[in-house]
Amino acid sequence: MIGSQFLLLFVQLVELLWWSTAIQLNPSRFPRDFLFGTATSAYQVEGAWNVSGKGESIWDHLTHNYPSLIRDQSNGDVACNSYYKMEEDLKILKDLGVDFYRFSISWTRLLPTGYSTYINKDGFQYYNKLLDLLKKNDIKAMVTIYHWDLPQSLQEYGGWTNSSIIDVYVEYARVVFELFGDRVHTWITFNEPFQICVEGYGVAAKAPAWNDSGISDYICGYNLLRAHAKAFHLYNNTYRRVQKAKIGITVQAPWAEPATSSEGDVQAANRLMQFYFGWFTHPIYKGDYPETMKSHIAFRSALEGYNSSRLPQFTSEEIEYIKGTSDFFGLNHYTSIMAAELPSDMPVVPGTSIANDINLTYYYDESWPSDTNWLKVVPWGLEKLLLFIKEEYDNPDIYITENGYADQGTLNDNTRLTYYRDYLNATLNAMAQGASVKVYTAWTLMDNFEWMAGYTEKFGIVHVDYESENRTRTYKRSAYFMKHVFKKRRITGFRNRSGKLKTGDGPEAFSVSE
Ligand SMILES: *[C@@H]1O[C@H](CO)[C@@H](O)[C@H](O)[C@H]1NC(C)=O
Ligand SMILES: *[C@@H]1O[C@H](CO)[C@@H](O)[C@H](O)[C@H]1NC(C)=O
Ligand SMILES: *[C@@H]1O[C@H](CO)[C@@H](O)[C@H](O)[C@H]1NC(C)=O
Ligand SMILES: *[C@@H]1O[C@H](CO)[C@@H](O)[C@H](O)[C@H]1NC(C)=O
Ligand SMILES: *[C@@H]1O[C@H](CO)[C@@H](O)[C@H](O)[C@H]1NC(C)=O
Ligand SMILES: *[C@@H]1O[C@H](CO)[C@@H](O)[C@H](O)[C@H]1NC(C)=O
Ligand SMILES: *[C@@H]1O[C@H](CO)[C@@H](O)[C@H](O)[C@H]1NC(C)=O
Ligand SMILES: *[C@@H]1O[C@H](CO)[C@@H](O)[C@H](O)[C@H]1NC(C)=O
Ligand SMILES: *[C@@H]1O[C@H](CO)[C@@H](O)[C@H](O)[C@H]1NC(C)=O
Repeated sequence: MIGSQFLLLFVQLVELLWWSTAIQLNPSRFPRDFLFGTATSAYQVEGAWNVSGKGESIWDHLTHNYPSLIRDQSNGDVACNSYYKMEEDLKILKDLGVDFYRFSISWTRLLPTGYSTYINKDGFQYYNKLLDLLKKNDIKAMVTIYHWDLPQSLQEYGGWTNSSIIDVYVEYARVVFELFGDRVHTWITFNEPFQICVEGYGVAAKAPAWNDSGISDYICGYNLLRAHAKAFHLYNNTYRRVQKAKIGITVQAPWAEPATSSEGDVQAANRLMQFYFGWFTHPIYKGDYPETMKSHIAFRSALEGYNSSRLPQFTSEEIEYIKGTSDFFGLNHYTSIMAAELPSDMPVVPGTSIANDINLTYYYDESWPSDTNWLKVVPWGLEKLLLFIKEEYDNPDIYITENGYADQGTLNDNTRLTYYRDYLNATLNAMAQGASVKVYTAWTLMDNFEWMAGYTEKFGIVHVDYESENRTRTYKRSAYFMKHVFKKRRITGFRNRSGKLKTGDGPEAFSVSE
């Protein structure tokens, strides 16, 4: 017994030595300053939807008034009950050994009316305490200012389709910089603008569930980009010098693989990515919308009898104002997709929609494994995407702010474990080819309310028991695996408690009771 403990100590010492000398040379390890973390968002985990003066958000409103839109008619009223389980969740984060924790602030918990004229004391205390506890535990804070839970009061005025929201959002941002900025390492202005605008205001697939594709979604994008830029400049000009955080926006980006090497399919795949995230990153990194987006929407708008493009144009001042407003490329990535051009003899599809503007067809390759109808395991897609971003946007620092896998919630989550291993390996491969990836975030810390899918799709590395009032948390296999990754900064060669090399590095090497 004693002997094996000495051996373990010896092995760890040798590893430490090797680590300190060889790390920079070995591409199979993440660099020393690379940051690992896990993420959540307020509405998905907090619960306590109506306590301590919190105001109603568009997600409270949608789930309570239109429950049939949620796959299992559920809501986030209680969710993981994280509002009451801060200490417990902190212990888990500490045990996992994360460098940072990404969470979002509930706008209506802090500002119940939506406006900065009244700050809710309990809301302030909640986030204040969370930031203090993170600091005490030496865990950096990555804070999303807007993760989809718009105050319902602002939605009554049209939400993101009303340009007056820009200043209301910026005042909210000012409040959070002012109150919390001294303890925040990274700010994210918006999580996934495409989903906010297209799913929220275009195709009714997220709150507020508007159905106005090809019009309101583009107006939303126009307002959101200007709000983002204004919040960035506020931070850059007023808070950065003292607070010294990084600030940027996070897009969700799939990799689109051309169905064939034909010019039409290659262009279709590129067009899909330009509409899906170039819409937001092109204005920020290069200035103005992507050319293909502008020309396709203008062409379709004319065809449909509009006297100008449905895509709101930036003024030249706005183009300059938005350009350069991100310290990093915030990337949420889950899966890949195949894209092809449409047959040229196909009749014009009538109607106004972003789908008609994009004008292509897409599908998933049948060989890609999956437990859902959309999240397919395609690790090489992430490698190609990271290299695409490097080329397209002049090698920006990339923060992977979400990456993860959905299943139905088993503790023996072998597919999730191998998903993480293989996507992390894809990240290392892209880094070896020059992609400047600095941060990796596992989505998500624990099973939670997955928007329109309710509790039917689970992304957690930690299981939450929704049958128990206690919302008991239990590690899945993937949590043990990620704990090793966070500690060792590599994805293979882990040893178990008796110092034996874990065989295969696959799911079989990690027991759920470890
Ligand atoms: C808060 O909402 C719950 C349902 O989730 C309800 O039972 C409770 O009465 C509400 N409390 C207040 C103060 O409105
Ligand atoms: C936009 O919001 C403002 C309040 O901020 C409101 O006065 C105005 O009527 C709204 N516009 C529309 C078109 O709803
Ligand atoms: C959106 O409106 C169109 C007609 O304008 C209708 O065909 C479609 O079913 C609607 N979709 C949703 C999600 O309400
Ligand atoms: C364009 O059409 C809108 C209505 O869709 C109308 O209000 C506007 O006056 C038109 N502009 C021009 C220049 O014809
Ligand atoms: C941010 O502020 C710095 C220092 O004032 C300035 O040099 C830089 O241009 C600003 N960034 C943007 C995008 O305006
Ligand atoms: C859509 O794509 C097809 C095939 O490339 C092309 O023939 C057609 O003109 C395009 N339609 C529009 C409206 O862009
Ligand atoms: C990581 O990727 C490299 C390059 O494709 C491959 O040789 C290696 O086997 C992969 N490692 C794991 C653990 O899958
Ligand atoms: C509640 O859950 C935590 C883990 O999430 C567990 O440690 C604790 O024992 C549970 N308490 C009860 C009363 O079940
Ligand atoms: C460690 O791994 C070895 C080899 O896979 C295995 O035989 C042994 O039972 C494991 N020990 C523990 C404590 O998991």
